[in-house]
Amino acid sequence: MSSPLAEKFEYPATLPPESMSSEEKESLRESIKAMLIREDAALVAHYYTDPDIQSLAEETGGCVADSLEMARFGNQHNGSSLIVAGVKFMGETSKILSPEKRILMPTLDATCSLDLSCPIDEFSTFCDQYSDRTVVVYANTSAAVKARADWVVTSGIALDVIDHLEAEGKKVIWAPDRHLGNYIQKQTGADMLLWQGECIVHDEFKSKALAELIIQNPDAAVLVHPESPASVIELADVVGSTTQLITASRELANQQFIVATDMGIVYKMQQYSPDKIFIAAPTGGTGATCRSCAHCPWMRMNSLSLLANAFENTDNEIFIDPVLAERAMIPLQRMLDFSAEQKR
Ligand code: 13P
Ligand code: SF4
Repeated sequence: MSSPLAEKFEYPATLPPESMSSEEKESLRESIKAMLIREDAALVAHYYTDPDIQSLAEETGGCVADSLEMARFGNQHNGSSLIVAGVKFMGETSKILSPEKRILMPTLDATCSLDLSCPIDEFSTFCDQYSDRTVVVYANTSAAVKARADWVVTSGIALDVIDHLEAEGKKVIWAPDRHLGNYIQKQTGADMLLWQGECIVHDEFKSKALAELIIQNPDAAVLVHPESPASVIELADVVGSTTQLITASRELANQQFIVATDMGIVYKMQQYSPDKIFIAAPTGGTGATCRSCAHCPWMRMNSLSLLANAFENTDNEIFIDPVLAERAMIPLQRMLDFSAEQKR
């Protein structure tokens, strides 16, 4: 079943990786490295981007991380500019945390179905109807939606924050991911009103085909991101955020893993465990019938060519109204403080 909200917008097909010869690729990589030095910029990439982009970030002193760490790293880096290879909400979060920096992205067309499924006007009207509830939004939202919230959370910290709010007797509005919200509700027993958005990549994982794959690979551990449907989560050995799944792939003794998240993550998993085998969990179809095939279409828009032109292009810089950014910083800071408190 797909959510009515997801059907309200079109989303792009996942493009194949850019085709170029190894010489062309090497030359592009070298020019990107030179550009980062010349422009005093750092490259910050998400785990779902192309392995070429992740390795460039690593080789140039940037970082490859989840959405929260990307923003934290960008904030602490002392360069004057950041190139954020990921999707738009990640660029916006970096800008909110580092308003003095120039934040560029390979393309601002790289968005996210969760962000698209939660337009600020509809969301704000919804929140107004339940003013007794604490508004908790996932990081995969626009700056305007964050500014309307009491808390921003990422998948790595969402359970702990909702647990904390539940212990305080708070009732919650959760947005936008219905699967993640449903998972957290089951885990915590909190009173949560769920916005009906979804990630078009994770929503495609199929439990029946996954159960068959598990039978064929009985020694494999199943790693599932909680943006997946409940029936897929039920089959998981580990449910967690991108970072938590990478950690599990390193720490578990299994030699095989079935992975239900964007397969860009395998670059890091394989780097830590070169001898382990990573198998993609089955999605909605194969070949022409496969919509995302476990590759986020928006993450795939981060090509080397666009990255190489990041400072020449004129339509790829993140700007946020400073008043809005200041308001959005409040729930973001609440999450950062909560996370820091937990680590003590
Ligand atoms: P993280 O917050 O773990 O980076 O995940 C972001 C995302 O888009 C998951 O689909
Ligand atoms: Fe958004 Fe899903 Fe892509 Fe993550 S994988 S950026 S949640 S559409």
